Amino acid sequence: MEFGNKIIDESVQGSAIAKEGNIEGKKLFLESYGCQMNFADSEVVASILINKGFTTTQNFLEADIIFVNTCAIRENAESKIRQRLQDYKKVKKKNPKALIGVLGCMAERLKSELLEQEKLVDIVVGPDAYRDLPNLIEIAEGGQKAVNVILSKEETYADISPVRLDHNGVSAFISIMRGCDNMCSFCVVPFTRGRERSRDPESIIKEAKEAFDAGYREVTLLGQNVDSFIWSGGGLKKDILTDEQKANAINFAQLLEMVAKINPDLRVRFSTSHPKDMCDDVLHTMAKYENICKYIHLPVQSGCSEVLEKMNRGYSREWYLDRVAAIRRIMPDAAISSDIITGFCGESEEQHQQTLSLMEEVQYEFAYMFAYSERPKTLAERKFTDDVSAEIKQKRLAEIVNMQRKHSEIRTKQNVGKIHKVLIESISKKSKDMFSGRNSQNITVVFPKEKYKKGDYVNVFASSCTSSTLIGEVV
Ligand code: 5AD
Ligand code: SF4
Repeated sequence: MEFGNKIIDESVQGSAIAKEGNIEGKKLFLESYGCQMNFADSEVVASILINKGFTTTQNFLEADIIFVNTCAIRENAESKIRQRLQDYKKVKKKNPKALIGVLGCMAERLKSELLEQEKLVDIVVGPDAYRDLPNLIEIAEGGQKAVNVILSKEETYADISPVRLDHNGVSAFISIMRGCDNMCSFCVVPFTRGRERSRDPESIIKEAKEAFDAGYREVTLLGQNVDSFIWSGGGLKKDILTDEQKANAINFAQLLEMVAKINPDLRVRFSTSHPKDMCDDVLHTMAKYENICKYIHLPVQSGCSEVLEKMNRGYSREWYLDRVAAIRRIMPDAAISSDIITGFCGESEEQHQQTLSLMEEVQYEFAYMFAYSERPKTLAERKFTDDVSAEIKQKRLAEIVNMQRKHSEIRTKQNVGKIHKVLIESISKKSKDMFSGRNSQNITVVFPKEKYKKGDYVNVFASSCTSSTLIGEVV
């Protein structure tokens, strides 16, 4: 996923992520849309199917089976996927036996209704049912439509070693928990991904060690709300734990420390932090370990306390700004990014101005910015009216995007004239003679390749910058 000072529409970021396999068998084309969690889930799906003898292809026209891992967060994410399904028609023309399956959040949201709406779809599978895929494929091969959208209170796919797809061989995603219990009133995720559950830390450490041994130098720990990670033996125990049991459980700060200790050369990142739960313990752990990146994605959504209350976010503007102050106090060099929604139900011009003023106060390095999109079944859809017009949503969105552009430029410029420790990730998109990597704060740094290679750490003196990229030379 790209970071930057522009509107990010996850729905256009789908990419063919399958790699050519060499095992004889049916050919699978797997495509992912949406958040990093979906990309991590696709690696679990690939693992399950490759273990069953599937090979993978990057050309959907030659596939025996197409799986698209979908996003339902905003309406336009779903429309992009519906358009993409039309492309897949070509496969069925060429090979009438080819199967098309929809995985992930859109599958969970629409269930078998999707089969009515999109006639070419044969298989519908929710995010907790991937172990059932081989069985569902068999049903579909027998000519029946196959659906499994059962959500689980236990499933974390802890024992499945993901097959790393679309990777640069340097950075890997590791899912540490699933689902979300927060019920933000605008958000469909609790309905599509189910109840929150944490994954066994032992399996997380094992996966991170395996990634390091395979040459990876960065892991990103993923969860909808990593700060509420708690392990005390699996399932939804969080709800019934006594205070004493909670004190003996493993929390996120402890997990972070365990991962950081694997090797000082393994960078650790995580996403997403929730302002209501992010505690100083996590910040102190981040400050203690050089290899934990000094970067926090802390979505604010709105700068106005009344709107935040309507959004059911569990914090006020003041609480949020206090969390930002704690980050700055404990890690003065940390970068902060955010998610912001414009035009939520009933948002007045004055309330929108409060979001702009909060942005001025924080000066985020990056932000993902969205116009509010009403989602079926959510609390907001049931309780409030989506009464801010599309024009005003777009006007407000443009205002926050412009402000963020300004702030990103200021933040990037502040890093010019300094030396940055960069993990080399790939060849720069702009020039094949340049490498691209990120510093601890998640800012992209490009520099001449010289004798270095992917996975190396280098110290780069930043001599200039574009609006969001530092340019320099290794010192
Ligand atoms: N409309 C617009 N943006 C949304 N997000 C979540 N739900 C909606 C919605 N209904 C945004 C939030 C969240 C990010 C992943 O997507 O900002 O943090
Ligand atoms: Fe959605 Fe809120 Fe959960 Fe994030 S924390 S996934 S915005 S309900």
